[in-house]
Amino acid sequence: MTATEIEGRLATVEQVLADPPNVHFADPVYGLVPPGGVWRTRRSCYEFLAAQCGAGSRTLETGLGISTALFTMWGCVHTCVVPWRIEADRLRGYLAERQVDDGPLRVEVGYSHEVLPALEPTPLDLVLIDGGHGFPMAMLDWFYAGGRLVTGGVLVLDDLHLPSVTAGLVDFLDRDPRWVELHRTDKWAAWRRESAGTLAEEWTDQPFFSPYRPRA
Ligand SMILES: C[S@@+](CC[C@H](N)C(=O)[O-])C[C@H]1O[C@@H](n2cnc3c(N)ncnc32)[C@H](O)[C@@H]1O
Repeated sequence: MTATEIEGRLATVEQVLADPPNVHFADPVYGLVPPGGVWRTRRSCYEFLAAQCGAGSRTLETGLGISTALFTMWGCVHTCVVPWRIEADRLRGYLAERQVDDGPLRVEVGYSHEVLPALEPTPLDLVLIDGGHGFPMAMLDWFYAGGRLVTGGVLVLDDLHLPSVTAGLVDFLDRDPRWVELHRTDKWAAWRRESAGTLAEEWTDQPFFSPYRPRA
């Protein structure tokens, strides 16, 4: 991945932040209104993604928004899992209006805890978790999508300010040497996976949690 390619993707970040897709609705419980019609994470997160993936990268995210537009514009082979078809329709309309080829974008409509286990477990280079924010949704997304990350693949978790997102999961990632922290802010963080295969394992496979010492 060259510096010029990354600069090109950073330019796309600027372009989309200046003209974001209007895809989201106001939150019915708290009455929070998405600024510019889209819930988003920090610019620094999009810039991080721009440095991590490009054309042909195998990417998956839970949730849809600016990030989905970016993955598509960058030419990633991208899967987006989102419960509401109208969000997907709005995003495809946004891309069409800007003559962006949405061919590499696959949207799976449904709740991630139902959709992810049913997907073919093809390898992934990068996973962005930013879908359901109630506990244990982020953890389930990590389990099903993170389990498809290749060795060296990157996990990005948004909304660290919500205990319902971080509970259990960030503590585990911090302890497990097979997840190497790449970046952390108060809003989002990223880890590189140093293992491969399913994340289903026995407690004896997790010595960093164990109260016992292994036999000599
Ligand atoms: C904060 S927005 C995502 C923002 C996006 N990552 C960005 O950077 O612009 C959260 C998204 O998660 C979706 N969502 C909510 N519950 C979900 C669930 N259970 N599974 C998957 N997506 C979900 C919402 O419909 C919304 O598209």
